[in-house]
Amino acid sequence: MIPVLSARHVEAAVSPARAVEAVREAFVAYARGEWSMPPKVYVPAYPAGDFRAMPALGAGHALLKWVTSFPGNPARGLPTVTGLVLLSDASDGSLRAALDAGAVTALRTGAAAVLAAETLGRQDAETAAVIGAGVNGRAAAKTFLARGRSVMLWDVDEQRARAVADELGADLAGSREEAFAADLLVTVTPGHEILLPEGSLRPGQHVSLMGADGPGKAEIAVAELARTRVFCDDREQSRPSGILNPKTRVRLFADDWDQASHNGDLAHAVEAGAITQDDVTQLGDVLAGTAPGRQHDDEITIFDSTGLAIQDLAIALAAMESADELDLPTLDL
Ligand SMILES: NC(=O)c1ccc[n+]([C@@H]2O[C@H](COP(=O)([O-])OP(=O)(O)OC[C@H]3O[C@@H](n4cnc5c(N)ncnc54)[C@H](O)[C@@H]3O)[C@@H](O)[C@H]2O)c1
Repeated sequence: MIPVLSARHVEAAVSPARAVEAVREAFVAYARGEWSMPPKVYVPAYPAGDFRAMPALGAGHALLKWVTSFPGNPARGLPTVTGLVLLSDASDGSLRAALDAGAVTALRTGAAAVLAAETLGRQDAETAAVIGAGVNGRAAAKTFLARGRSVMLWDVDEQRARAVADELGADLAGSREEAFAADLLVTVTPGHEILLPEGSLRPGQHVSLMGADGPGKAEIAVAELARTRVFCDDREQSRPSGILNPKTRVRLFADDWDQASHNGDLAHAVEAGAITQDDVTQLGDVLAGTAPGRQHDDEITIFDSTGLAIQDLAIALAAMESADELDLPTLDL
């Protein structure tokens, strides 16, 4: 009998605060080589959207997430992100659980956005904003609140932003400018238009770019990524290599180089020859203490997220910790 966790069950089992800790541990385990993750496979069904098959192995379990990104769906009353997560025992291959992929994705996406902001943002960061108040923007805002930080929301659909702000007890940004000036910025839009043109970010800001997680999407202009030189330490080194160029204004952090360089905002910058792998530090390496994070208060830090199956594995395992307390339906295969 295989337990099935619907979205409601996943949300009951894993709080946003627990999700941040679980995702942090997953990034560290992956950076240390304890968890593994074959590349995610994109199955394009454009222009409607795409499917992704996302496997991972860690903590005695294997996971496969079969999930979508269909950006036009909300207009039809359907979610952008939907699918199923399968969790198996890695000692004998037996299936242990099936979980709603949308809920797992939202929890781990909100967790990664906030974890990156907390890790890479300025210590004295005061304001936080989420751009895009959809399913995963809502999750990011909820996670900021769960971490004790107030957050403002901004969306081209003002009604949506207002409804989510009211529901969560978050703030509605007074203007687009106010939202984009936040010390900690999280963008979770469909990635069809550039939110951050050249010169738009100011020294000291952090941005978690969550929306552009597939080919052809972008939330930031290449020129904004590349307008100053980008520095990064060797991944294998445990301390910063020398003194940073004082002209540095942009430092990039990615969740996983292979995925980000092909699918995220980085893909455009890589294609344009504006950055190389040496310019990018993986967030997990910073969390594991093997690569430097923010170097000085004036840097702009950018976390480009494509979303990793290890994050999903972290949430699925956390959900299973509470499975016995939930009245779960089962599948008899
Ligand atoms: N990086 C990751 O791990 C990850 C995880 C899940 C989803 N995503 C991606 O994030 C994006 C959003 O996903 P979702 O499920 O929240 O979608 P959604 O459709 O529920 O929400 C998107 C929101 O963005 C708003 N929006 C659109 N254009 C905007 C703009 N220019 N400025 C401000 N707001 C704008 C929409 O009005 C909507 O409220 C998708 O591209 C999805 O593929 C990434």
